[in-house]
Amino acid sequence: MTKVITYGTFDLFHEGHYRLLQRAKALGDYLIVGVTTEKYDMERGKLNVIDPLMTRIENVRKSGFADEIIIEEASGQKVSDVQKYHIDIFTVGSDWVGQFDYMQNYCKVVYIERTKNISSTMLREQNKQIQKIGIIGTGRIANRFVPEVKLVSGISVQGVYNPHTESAKKFSQNWEIDFYEEIEDFFKDVDVVYVASPHETHYDYVKAALKHGKHVLCEKPMVLKKAQSEELFAYAKECGLILFEGIKTAYCPGFEKLLGIACTGTIGRIKYIDACFTKLESPNNRELTDKRYGGSFTELGSYCLLPIIKLFGIDYQDIRFESIHDDNELDIFTKVSLTYQEGIAVATCGLGVKAEGRLLIAGTKGYIVVEAPWWKTTCFEVHYEDPTQVDKYSERFLGTGLRYEIKDFLNMINGNDKSDFKLTRGETVAIAEIVEKFLAYEGRAV
Ligand code: CTP
Repeated sequence: MTKVITYGTFDLFHEGHYRLLQRAKALGDYLIVGVTTEKYDMERGKLNVIDPLMTRIENVRKSGFADEIIIEEASGQKVSDVQKYHIDIFTVGSDWVGQFDYMQNYCKVVYIERTKNISSTMLREQNKQIQKIGIIGTGRIANRFVPEVKLVSGISVQGVYNPHTESAKKFSQNWEIDFYEEIEDFFKDVDVVYVASPHETHYDYVKAALKHGKHVLCEKPMVLKKAQSEELFAYAKECGLILFEGIKTAYCPGFEKLLGIACTGTIGRIKYIDACFTKLESPNNRELTDKRYGGSFTELGSYCLLPIIKLFGIDYQDIRFESIHDDNELDIFTKVSLTYQEGIAVATCGLGVKAEGRLLIAGTKGYIVVEAPWWKTTCFEVHYEDPTQVDKYSERFLGTGLRYEIKDFLNMINGNDKSDFKLTRGETVAIAEIVEKFLAYEGRAV
């Protein structure tokens, strides 16, 4: 009996898939089809898959060619599958020519001619209107955003607006996109808006974008006041639009895994969280010269509050701030202490004081530690009373990580709100309230 194996995502099952399976089956007597899991696709940077795993498996089954269906959940699995299932022929479409030649050490490799003019990517793009995103702001984060958008299908960068036309022009030349001198023209041309302007301008831009019927992805901190945050969410809801705060950590796979493990009881009941993020900034940069809205906490506080709010919630009993200031009276280091019924938490952030930048989650049975840059979560460790017992976890974090939030934002626009829980409206409002309290403590009331 000749055993054949092939692999694929088989998203939005189409004629190309059908014909590939048909010819793969014809190569032998018994066909095994490996279907990729969502997690594996995510890990290898395929962020646009629409059908869930069960639907994709069901479609492969319905083709009638597969004698056995397995799931592919890790890179390197193919070699062990071929040996485990005593495979004679490994086959994939001709788009992979050369890439699986190494499998010849284990079995025969056949590349099947790919069916022309059809692919899942094509169908995804036909199915969904491509969202044209317009960027407001031209700073560092906006520059990181553009290449990440390119990695998510269904969205493309249309243009940029900045009241400083020269900056917008330069940015647009750099990224080969349009620039707009008039914001009204900008709103006319775009479907969705990314707000990456200075913090204090977010509120007006978000409101204007919603007024023009645009979904909005806004950089953190979305706004600096609780009432503004509530107002914007209520307005977005009224208009049937998505408003989304871009704290990238909340959407990256490693952070999701970390929260999952922290909540399983592995470390017992969580009692203490210590989240630190420092980044030495040049004293000439906006972050350390803007006396009203600059400083460590407005810049980095959202990151440090995130794990605390995700694990302890938004109902803290007490909150206290302590800051170290520079000659501009801006906080170059801030410590926020929160007291909850079940435990205590400390968030520290600095632009002018360097610390280790670690995230520690301590429980009644053990603790989780994530070294810097924990806000781009990749590896973390779980420790227990017995110092020799350490569980290590890792997850991929691709590029600058903005692709994960862009993908979730786009999914929400397309009616899939499965990622809603990653950063809820209530959590965004709670963070805005803490920022407001901090600015009041600093005597910089907005
Ligand atoms: N395939 C094919 N002809 C097509 C499309 C896919 O023969 N027109 C083959 C691929 O070469 C692969 C298998 O079908 O062996 C599963 O491919 P998959 O990546 O799931 O499908 P694509 O349509 O190529 O998906 P995407 O556009 O997301 O890359």
